[in-house]
Amino acid sequence: VPTPSSLSYEDCKATADWLLTQTDMRPTVGIVCGSGLGGLADLLKDQVAFNYKDIPNFPQSTGHRPLSDPEGKLITLPMRIFKLLGVQTVVITNAAGGLNQDFKVGDIMIIKDHINLPGFAGNNPLVGPNDERFGVRFPCMSDAYDRDLQQLAMEVGQELGYGDFLKEGVYCVLGGPSFETIAECRMLHLLGVDAVGMSTVHEVIVARHCGMRVFALSLITNLAVTDYDSEEKANHEEVLQAGKQRAEQMERLVSSVALPERS
Ligand code: 6GU
Repeated sequence: VPTPSSLSYEDCKATADWLLTQTDMRPTVGIVCGSGLGGLADLLKDQVAFNYKDIPNFPQSTGHRPLSDPEGKLITLPMRIFKLLGVQTVVITNAAGGLNQDFKVGDIMIIKDHINLPGFAGNNPLVGPNDERFGVRFPCMSDAYDRDLQQLAMEVGQELGYGDFLKEGVYCVLGGPSFETIAECRMLHLLGVDAVGMSTVHEVIVARHCGMRVFALSLITNLAVTDYDSEEKANHEEVLQAGKQRAEQMERLVSSVALPERS
């Protein structure tokens, strides 16, 4: 069972230093691929790939690791390793359920802000001792999502003809792994949430804590059910399916932000 020391600065440094010995590449952008969106990795030319199990101290993916689980904190470890590798900008994608009534399946939402609902109950990845080498005790989150990168993605999206399905909005994270009830979806809608999911926010908080710029996109893979007469049921297969349909557009938007010189 990992202990809190799995998150220490020294452990993150050891992992970053090991990676730096394995390649001459010095990345400045880190990309996190959401459910069904792993094809983003194929964008990269000159690839150097590692299995998570071969990277010292690196957490293994289990498909779902809630923050409430002590190991849940490990999901944000890659952000700190990015930082120590020299990364300045983090781009994150996810699959999300749409709550905004104007959204359709296949819409891409530029995340402009988030609601860390688990955080209201004390579940924040920065809970615990603060290491000033990463960042301050009480980091600001009102500028979490970089405005210039949002604007760039919106402009590129318009130029590429994505205007009809490129949206912006507020993303709310829940602990998962169960999907929401109808009453929960109604509540979130009343609170001004545009899309709901189970990821991203923890990474964003840790990335902002250590001073990296953040850009994040949600692919709307299904519409959250807010109506008791609806026969719709959220399921993981539809999430993965929708990812395939908009993969190319997601990749173009990510590369416009991550590799602006190439688009
Ligand atoms: Cl509807 N809810 C949650 N929590 N996560 C999702 C989703 C819905 N659709 C994709 N991911």
